[in-house]
Amino acid sequence: MLKPVDIESGVLHRFPEALALIVSKDQSQKINLCPIGYFTLIAWEPKTWVIGLYEKHYSTKIISETKEFVLCLPSVEQAKDLLYCGSISGRKVDKTKSISLKFTPSSTVKPPLVEDSIACFECKVVQQRVIGDHVAFFGQIVMAYESGKNWRQKLYNWDNKKIGTIALGDKFNEISFSPEGAIE
Ligand SMILES: Cc1cc2nc3c(=O)[nH]c(=O)nc-3n(C[C@H](O)[C@H](O)[C@H](O)COP(=O)(O)O)c2cc1C
Repeated sequence: MLKPVDIESGVLHRFPEALALIVSKDQSQKINLCPIGYFTLIAWEPKTWVIGLYEKHYSTKIISETKEFVLCLPSVEQAKDLLYCGSISGRKVDKTKSISLKFTPSSTVKPPLVEDSIACFECKVVQQRVIGDHVAFFGQIVMAYESGKNWRQKLYNWDNKKIGTIALGDKFNEISFSPEGAIE
């Protein structure tokens, strides 16, 4: 029998949640990387991702200004770098200096693709909406790429502090992040 629960506890049932790594490029040409769990394909024709970014993230500022991003589906080998990118804001640091991810130029947008991702998508923002404390960016896919890796190597968020794969669900990493902390 279903019983009422507080909403914050209820939404924990969404895990495991697929992860995406959002790549943007600011006006000074600095590449910024932001892992997210809030994303889904929202339209089939034309194929469009919607991503939910906290209003105070640096990525939110960049994408509001540039109207483009790259969405990559990260692989398990990228877990450590993904956690680093989710623990600090790019407002003050250049995250690319502290990670081993490699980049390759995109065809139609300025932010680059991340090599060894499962897949990457070049997206142009066609709409954006403020939803509470997040901004929903609707990114129409203009180019798609795949690496040959499959879902077994895809990274999931298992709860707010653990990530792993579906196939190797015991491979968790403890992390510490908070959107508030990340903007300092
Ligand atoms: C596993 C994981 C999932 C996350 N999901 C989201 C998300 O869906 N939306 C969001 O705004 N931030 C999310 N974050 C937090 C941001 O990645 C983090 O605050 C980041 O440092 C923001 O960077 P920026 O200020 O350079 O854009 C997540 C972090 C991690 C580690």
